Amino acid sequence: MNMIVADEANRRFVLNTKSFTYAFQVNDAGFLTNLHWGGRIDRVDDLPTTREVLCHRHYLPRRGEVTRQEYPGWGGEFYGEPALKADFPDGARVCLLQYESFQMERNTDCEELTVALRDKGYPLEVKLHYRIYADSDIIDRRSEIINRGEKPVVLQSAMSACLQLPRIDHDYRLTHLAGRWGKEHTLERQLVNQSKITLENRTGLSGPLAVPFFALDDGSATEHTGMVWFGTLHWSGNWKITVEREYNEQVAICGGINDFDLSWPLKPDEAFETPVFSLGISREGFNGASRILHDYERAHILPPGAMQKTMPVIFNSWASMGIDVSEEKILHVAEKAAEIGAELFVIDDGWQSALGDWFPDKRKFPHGLKPVIEQVKALGMDFGLWVEIESFELNSELFRSHPDWLMSFPGRDIYYNIREEIGRTSMMLNLAREDVREYLHQSLRQLVIETGIKYLKLDMNCFFTNPGWNEESPALRQTIWVKYVRNLYYIFERLNREFPDVLLENCASGAGRSDLAMNRYFARMNRSDNQDPLDILKMHEGYTWLHLSRMAGGGCHISDAGYHINLRKTPMKYQAYIGIMGSLSVGKNLPGCTAEELDEIRIYTDLYKKLRHIPQFGDLYRIASHYDNPYAAFEFVSKDKSEALLFVFGHSIQFADKVPAFRLHGLNEDAVYEIEYYGNNPQGGYNASVNAYQPISGRGLHEIGIRVELLGDYDARILHFKRN
Ligand code: DGJ
Repeated sequence: MNMIVADEANRRFVLNTKSFTYAFQVNDAGFLTNLHWGGRIDRVDDLPTTREVLCHRHYLPRRGEVTRQEYPGWGGEFYGEPALKADFPDGARVCLLQYESFQMERNTDCEELTVALRDKGYPLEVKLHYRIYADSDIIDRRSEIINRGEKPVVLQSAMSACLQLPRIDHDYRLTHLAGRWGKEHTLERQLVNQSKITLENRTGLSGPLAVPFFALDDGSATEHTGMVWFGTLHWSGNWKITVEREYNEQVAICGGINDFDLSWPLKPDEAFETPVFSLGISREGFNGASRILHDYERAHILPPGAMQKTMPVIFNSWASMGIDVSEEKILHVAEKAAEIGAELFVIDDGWQSALGDWFPDKRKFPHGLKPVIEQVKALGMDFGLWVEIESFELNSELFRSHPDWLMSFPGRDIYYNIREEIGRTSMMLNLAREDVREYLHQSLRQLVIETGIKYLKLDMNCFFTNPGWNEESPALRQTIWVKYVRNLYYIFERLNREFPDVLLENCASGAGRSDLAMNRYFARMNRSDNQDPLDILKMHEGYTWLHLSRMAGGGCHISDAGYHINLRKTPMKYQAYIGIMGSLSVGKNLPGCTAEELDEIRIYTDLYKKLRHIPQFGDLYRIASHYDNPYAAFEFVSKDKSEALLFVFGHSIQFADKVPAFRLHGLNEDAVYEIEYYGNNPQGGYNASVNAYQPISGRGLHEIGIRVELLGDYDARILHFKRN
């Protein structure tokens, strides 16, 4: 059973989830020492003592006292990455955080332990919150720093949590997600030797250069086997996760809001709240870690209601029309979109008067959006719009009336975001301001009410450049990084509450914001604007380490949008089958398509509607990686194990090679499954070596696997397993 045990007499705390135990205790010097973050321990007395757990025979005992701390302040003989660094009113800049008290809160679906620490020299309190859930294999940690004194304290760094790893007989191997526009969520790996590895973002957003996620293993874990320690930070602005092997062999992870260019004054009685840092352990390799996260996201992160709904077939105007949208064109395209089976019609960039002025461009939509919306609805589709609210253009009414809302530094040139491809120059609004937050919330609220949209795509096409806030008092100017993000959450938290039926897409130019905090409000995400299917196979693999496959949007899966990136033409079927694993969207130039092409697209949207419940509500198993092979395979199994889908994508198959049988996971071993396939005939043509599929048991599918004959280039199959 998942539960927290607080042993008051020994000042020891033990948190048990389904597959791991996390324990800590107050040491002789009053510091909170981590005892165990590893496999589940049911007998509390099996745990080591605060001395036994140290990785090194410290000759200087005071160094030993401050290692493996749950939340180390910078001070004493601790030289690792601190969780807290503060400037005190008397000039002191160090703090030693010692145990004071604890509190427990038990609810039916979760338990929360709060441990209070206090600095030795000044009444600065730190509350460490640990939450476990009845239905999730995750611990959520976060912290609160409270000034209980009478004078201000300035925080220079206040992390969410510090995590201590057990000593193992290998170097840990770190896997993380990094990339850039068009190459989002790439898997990166390195060994952790005596050094500090800093994963971070300083762009003001959480992705895509790096994503706030880590996984550690002893170098032997695979997708399906081995122990993996993992964690992810729920923060959509500058963040930092350090992975450090200290001089004493201790491996520690410290994660939170990036302390870069941050300074946060705390007046008496004020508190600073950090974002959640979720952590877990998988005993079933990297796949297991992803499934734990996916279940947790379904149960506790996604906006209420979103998980019950399937994702619609989306037509999005961007890939085929760019900003060249108008009433006439949209009316024409909408008819075709209905024909190919779209359920939601989204007008992307170009409908608005200007960035900042969120009403229709009169030249393009002389009668407003009304005729377009009515037509879309009459054709049986929902209607959605794109916005990029954090920027404004020079020629916008908003900039003319509020030039002071610009994010800028005095004496520095305004930093324009220039998008030559669409002839647009814009600047960033300072969303850290409350008046900007209120204005943007009201504009969006008004837009939703007036248009009745069922979908809103939030874009963000630049990184922060001149994060200045000169109207604010000097001591508070650097709070801009944090207040900005909190205000963004505020807007979308309110919109979610006000319009629970509106589906929100977190676009941010393609994974510009890739973190679980965004997933609380946005049920769909633009995984990437890059729609080259070969690139997607890699990006989708990395993406699903953290995010649910069902959220994987993107400009348009079925489209020619990826072409310019690698100048690679790919068959529609290949694009569509990849799209069916996520939230399918179409971006073809429909009026330019032949009748046969339209029919073909219809086949894919029908197939998506038939199969989507499995990837959208089931468990994901990554079976074969495009990083290692000229093919890739992803399996989805319905929660009741009655159905499964295997998606297989081959490319550049050579030398008449047969791909190995794909061994499936997660099925009921004793059940027998019928197989229906989509794609080429499994006989495969001349010299085929796969017979037509016969029913096969779950055990057979796991132990022997299923053969799929892949031929040449861009060969894609979907196998549908149904329990007899
Ligand atoms: C970047 C997004 O990622 C695209 O999907 C599209 O919405 C454009 N911006 C519009 O400017």
